[in-house]
Amino acid sequence: MKTRITELFGIEHPIIQGGMHYVGFAELAAAVSNAGALGIITGLTQKTPEDLAREIRRCRERTDKPFGVNLTFLPALKAPDYPGYIRAIVEGGVKIVETAGNNPQKWLPALREHGIKVIHKCTSVRHSLKAEAIGCDAVSVDGFECGGHPGEDDIPNFILLPRAAEELKIPFVASGGMADGRSLVAALALGADGMNMGTRFIATKEAPVHDNVKQAIVAASELDTRLVMRALRNTERVLRNAATDALLEKEHRLGAEIKFEDIIPEVAGVYPKIMIDGDMDAGVWSCGMVAGLIRDVPTCKELVDRIMAGAESLITRRLAGFVGVAA
Ligand SMILES: Cc1cc2nc3c(=O)[nH]c(=O)nc-3n(C[C@H](O)[C@H](O)[C@H](O)COP(=O)(O)O)c2cc1C
Repeated sequence: MKTRITELFGIEHPIIQGGMHYVGFAELAAAVSNAGALGIITGLTQKTPEDLAREIRRCRERTDKPFGVNLTFLPALKAPDYPGYIRAIVEGGVKIVETAGNNPQKWLPALREHGIKVIHKCTSVRHSLKAEAIGCDAVSVDGFECGGHPGEDDIPNFILLPRAAEELKIPFVASGGMADGRSLVAALALGADGMNMGTRFIATKEAPVHDNVKQAIVAASELDTRLVMRALRNTERVLRNAATDALLEKEHRLGAEIKFEDIIPEVAGVYPKIMIDGDMDAGVWSCGMVAGLIRDVPTCKELVDRIMAGAESLITRRLAGFVGVAA
């Protein structure tokens, strides 16, 4: 399948694995890229730029296909060493960066002067247009369904994607709620040039996270996510667990008075406990509604091949059949 996204990134299939904290290590990124999609290492999971440089080397040892690095720009008490991380990306020969969070404008020249393509993740049409205006090569349009931070507009992909298609000139991928061949064909029909998946890629054999995390996703239904941190305007979609319930009770009790310091036990530094130790109630962790469509733990190659076969069959049989041109 050829789209503007496969052409832009030099990949076989129009599928991207979004950056995920404590999930996007070299093992997963390389497995996704070896399957013909685009794997992404999560930059900030690496504690220092030197660690990121090592992770990039580990990924390169595992694949000769293109892969990217995610750089998330979020408000932090102590800003990460972004110039150092960018140096590691440039010196590591990485040619694709997925940015997310705040406007990446300040960092674009340092990336683009080395021929690095930038795909920015946005949760609204206005932010997508901004990304286009400042020179991003593509956007990942993240609907309300998504795991992680869906923004504050709450527009699901059935509306957000065609709205993005109406306004954008640069290519975009559909992100949030994507799981299979049906998702890919729907994304293409709504105007996207591919899709980005987070939660689905966690439940794969190569994702280097504790098996409890994969089994929690397989066991969850589409009803099992919750939105937390709304009052802080830092909304996150997470899987419901004991920590989520405790956090929501606290949010209800403190109302608009709530401050970040109030919720530190549930949100700060919890990812290693969940993803590595498999302590599923240690805190809140991002998960998409798409968990309701995830029922197994395949290899990345099995997953990507299944998606592409499903999409092709949908297009050439079911859809073509409706207009009388079935193969
Ligand atoms: C466990 C987890 C951690 C994530 N961490 C990040 C992150 O650090 N930076 C980022 O830009 N997006 C992050 N995301 C968002 C994903 O890259 C992707 O946009 C999102 O998962 C898409 O929605 P889906 O889960 O429905 O596929 C995370 C998602 C999950 C599920």
